[in-house]
Amino acid sequence: MKLLKFTDENKIKFYVIGGGSNLLFSDENFEGIIIKLSSDKYSEFANIENNEESLCCGAAISLAYLARQTAEQGLSGLEYLSGIPGTVGGAVYGNAGIRNYDISSVLQEVELINYNGSKSILSKDKFNFEYRKSNIKNAIITKVKFVLKKTDKNDILQTVLKEQQKRKQNQPLGTKNAGCIFKNPQNDSAGRIIDSLNLKNFSIGDAQISDKHANFFINKNNASSSDMLKLINFVQNEVYKKYKIKLETEIKIIK
Ligand code: EPU
Repeated sequence: MKLLKFTDENKIKFYVIGGGSNLLFSDENFEGIIIKLSSDKYSEFANIENNEESLCCGAAISLAYLARQTAEQGLSGLEYLSGIPGTVGGAVYGNAGIRNYDISSVLQEVELINYNGSKSILSKDKFNFEYRKSNIKNAIITKVKFVLKKTDKNDILQTVLKEQQKRKQNQPLGTKNAGCIFKNPQNDSAGRIIDSLNLKNFSIGDAQISDKHANFFINKNNASSSDMLKLINFVQNEVYKKYKIKLETEIKIIK
């Protein structure tokens, strides 16, 4: 709150990040402040409290950690998110998910600090959640409440394992990447479309299209933001030329 007041009074630009895993900053310096909630174990943003009906958790908690913890407790609802990097706050903001599942489906409430310094606790139906986006704006998500279902722990852990195996098989884990670059067009996969143009391994500078999944762009060594942007534009143009489909980025480009 003090920080928001300070930025407001001094007219300092700021940007709030979750885990930073879905962002592409420009090569220029960012002239402002980057705000990231502390995930230190004593931080109020890293707390998890659960009772029979719901689970409250701080926005700075890692999504993968939360998904594993709840699976271990036999609480179903977040297991599909176990392989997604980033924080709970970032995931709710971007309505993270896989295939037909997204995090908003198990969300009950969101606690926010508005940029004017006031706090609000709002139920999910006060927001609009769509495929990989929400209309939460001018606010920092600080805490969220989920409704999870008590289920057989082994079934949930089985789902976690299956998802991990799929990812290991289909995605370039262990490389420097920002997850899927583009959102999927309706009823199709951006990866499949890019692959159909034989663009796997194509690179601009050190930015390269993964040979495992064509919607992942890898930083081979020292790729600049501009290399990535050129590759993104190139792919968007090629896909448009061939299919008249406009691929929209899933990652956020910060200038
Ligand atoms: N495919 C190809 N070539 C490729 C990539 C995919 O032919 O290079 C084909 C696959 O064989 C499959 C279809 O396209 O038949 C769909 O592929 P996949 O199952 O990998 O799913 P996706 O739609 O490409 C989505 C999410 C991923 C998530 C996977 C889980 C989006 C944009 N992508 O990918 O999420 O991990 O499902 O299966 O929603 C992310 O959001 O960052 C992300 C990686």
